[in-house]
Amino acid sequence: MDAQVDIKTEDIIPSTDLKPSLPKSKKKMESEKPKEVEKELNLEDLPGVGAATAEKLKESGYDDLMSVAVASPGKLIDDAGITETAARKMINAARNSMKMGFVSGEEVLEKRGTVIKISTGSEVFNEMMGGGFETAAITEVFSEFGGGKTQIGHILSVNMLKQDPDSYVVYIDTENTFRPERIAQLAKAIGLDPTQVLKKIKVAKAYNSDHQMLLAEKVSELIKGDGLNIKLVVVDSLMSHFRAEYVGRGTLADRQQKLNRHMHVLARLADTNNLCVYVTNQVMSKPDQFFGDPTTAVGGHIVGHASTFRIYLRKGKKGSRVAKLVDSPNLPETECNFMVTEGGLEDL
Ligand code: GTP
Ligand code: MG
Repeated sequence: MDAQVDIKTEDIIPSTDLKPSLPKSKKKMESEKPKEVEKELNLEDLPGVGAATAEKLKESGYDDLMSVAVASPGKLIDDAGITETAARKMINAARNSMKMGFVSGEEVLEKRGTVIKISTGSEVFNEMMGGGFETAAITEVFSEFGGGKTQIGHILSVNMLKQDPDSYVVYIDTENTFRPERIAQLAKAIGLDPTQVLKKIKVAKAYNSDHQMLLAEKVSELIKGDGLNIKLVVVDSLMSHFRAEYVGRGTLADRQQKLNRHMHVLARLADTNNLCVYVTNQVMSKPDQFFGDPTTAVGGHIVGHASTFRIYLRKGKKGSRVAKLVDSPNLPETECNFMVTEGGLEDL
């Protein structure tokens, strides 16, 4: 009987576990479909990096080899206080140690399959977003005050926890507008226990832009160190501190450089952990625009390019809201109407 069932051990044990005992020919076949099986190297494994330099690097935001691999020598010299030769050696070693760059389209598709779409509660809004707010992406919503951006942050948090009760939410609050009472109200409305929901939202107030950046960098520690399954990171609002601290034309370049770094941290967080980053943004008026809506998001190209999806919210008739998807890699530019109500977002 047994002889008829032709199941090989390779079929039931993940191939990575078998690797050391595989014959040569098998090994070659395996290497043709690379997966993240190699032991993850640390900063200390780089040439010339001892405990002290590693510490310095970490303090400057280099938390893994990738961050060193993509750094410029000049930046590394400044950040780690090392010589140019040492910096070049480190960068080369980091680059050589990792599989950089290309994956097959098939692998990308496979990864897309793991994307979660967080419901907004409004069917038309979800439809406009191709199902909901996606993980592995940054979604930016911008509007004038009272547009509903903060409400959406609260609603997504609660809906995420409904969709996956094992997940966690991180809420970076820069304007002191996170309201646990509102979370409790929204949770009740969809049949969740408010206390349980509040336990799973990690809130941090950011007091200035540096603090905000640091908090974003710390999220990966919550994931790696504390093992939290974070699926949503809210930054409400992205630009308020940056805008307040960098006033005047002369400071714009500095601001954009910092902002660029912040957006990169958020983008990597989204990508490497398959989590949704939701950022809110303000608008500024563009008085020279005569046709259409004379408002545009602040933050310039840096924010615009880093965001995967961009949504413009405006007030509609009778207290309703109009959301317009103005930028997306795969969805058409459409609009939808909904209401912010006690229970969350509702179709008209
Ligand atoms: P700024 O942060 O000032 O730029 O605004 P925002 O875009 O974050 O606006 P926010 O999300 O705070 O939206 C405020 C609006 O949401 C209010 O004007 C109300 O219309 C609506 N809203 C907030 N809470 C409730 C609620 O509990 N019930 C209902 N029905 N509406 C609410
Ligand atoms: Mg707000």
